[in-house]
Amino acid sequence: MANSLSLGKLRLASRYLLSPLAGYTNLPFRRVVRELGGVGLATTDLVNARALLRASPKTMELIATCPEDRPVAVQIYGTEAKEMSEAARWLENYGASVVDINMGCPVHKVTRGGGGSALLCAASASTTVNLVRAVVEAVKIPVTVKMRLGWDSGDQSAPFFAREFEKAGVAGVIIHGRTRAQGFGGEVDLEGIRAVVEAVERIPVIGNGDVRSVADALRMLEATGCAGISIGRGALLNPWIFAQLCRWDRTGDPGPAAGYDARLELMHRHYYLLVEERGERFASLTFRKVANWYCRVLKPGREIQQRLMMLESVADFDGIVNGLRENGPPANWNSTVVPEIAVPKGPIEYW
Ligand SMILES: Cc1cc2nc3c(=O)[nH]c(=O)nc-3n(C[C@H](O)[C@H](O)[C@H](O)COP(=O)(O)O)c2cc1C
Repeated sequence: MANSLSLGKLRLASRYLLSPLAGYTNLPFRRVVRELGGVGLATTDLVNARALLRASPKTMELIATCPEDRPVAVQIYGTEAKEMSEAARWLENYGASVVDINMGCPVHKVTRGGGGSALLCAASASTTVNLVRAVVEAVKIPVTVKMRLGWDSGDQSAPFFAREFEKAGVAGVIIHGRTRAQGFGGEVDLEGIRAVVEAVERIPVIGNGDVRSVADALRMLEATGCAGISIGRGALLNPWIFAQLCRWDRTGDPGPAAGYDARLELMHRHYYLLVEERGERFASLTFRKVANWYCRVLKPGREIQQRLMMLESVADFDGIVNGLRENGPPANWNSTVVPEIAVPKGPIEYW
């Protein structure tokens, strides 16, 4: 089937993937999105291979998963082949469906040691390719690489690396159509993604960047020939996008946008999954961070927004949601609002 996608022997239920968004795509969020349907694969936040091997509590939290969270890729970063392959083996035993190697992260904390997107401009390309090969050879589960187009516009190494990674045995690459120097600025470069698609022989190339609607997805599929699409910020704004895209694949119609009640139910489910996983206190504190984007969509007014951003307990939450249910949407509420998601800004040297 033209629309199916496999990573090695792992056949995915859809060609639409949830991208890792560190700090957001934690287990409760992944579950809530999966429940809406259409997610072929979700990935954890990036974790440091060395910290994983030490089983640091923070890292264990970041890779928390459960049977409903399948198939799941765990994303690792690091610079040493031995450490990265041991981490991959550890993850295979842990039950990860896929190991994803981070070669896209532009943040200084990750690149200064040579990890993340810095691997795309390693002094010797063979160091990077050998690292990937070592990880592939360490495990039976599929290994993927998530990368950017290159370090900057003068060094668009992604097509070269994608082909080399394919020879080294990776099951697929996910390509964010920006260079490291671009950060999150400018427009995603569809031609750059196309060059990666054309560079490989067999493996699927999954396009990524700025897909927020069915029209954006169509444009990416047509312009690049990519085998699938990974969606990050667009899924925070509209977690139904995966189900809508699958329906569009089947019928040519994505169906209606989610209405006010569905949005409210989603918020409710998200908070309760947080409570289930981490308890009332942690869930309430964590929820404050995402309350803002629910408010941008639901537009409940300033007072409710402030209460959600100071959330303390399940009782508070229930009181707020019951009130919102009773009152219904504000006049002229429109489900198609597209709020912005914060990304690092300013000169990339300081990220
Ligand atoms: C807040 C934030 C956190 C991110 N964390 C990760 C990460 O942990 N690993 C990774 O490979 N990419 C990470 N990314 C990049 C996204 O996965 C994705 O490649 C990028 O946002 C472009 O896709 P989008 O326009 O669909 O969001 C992050 C992006 C943002 C905005």
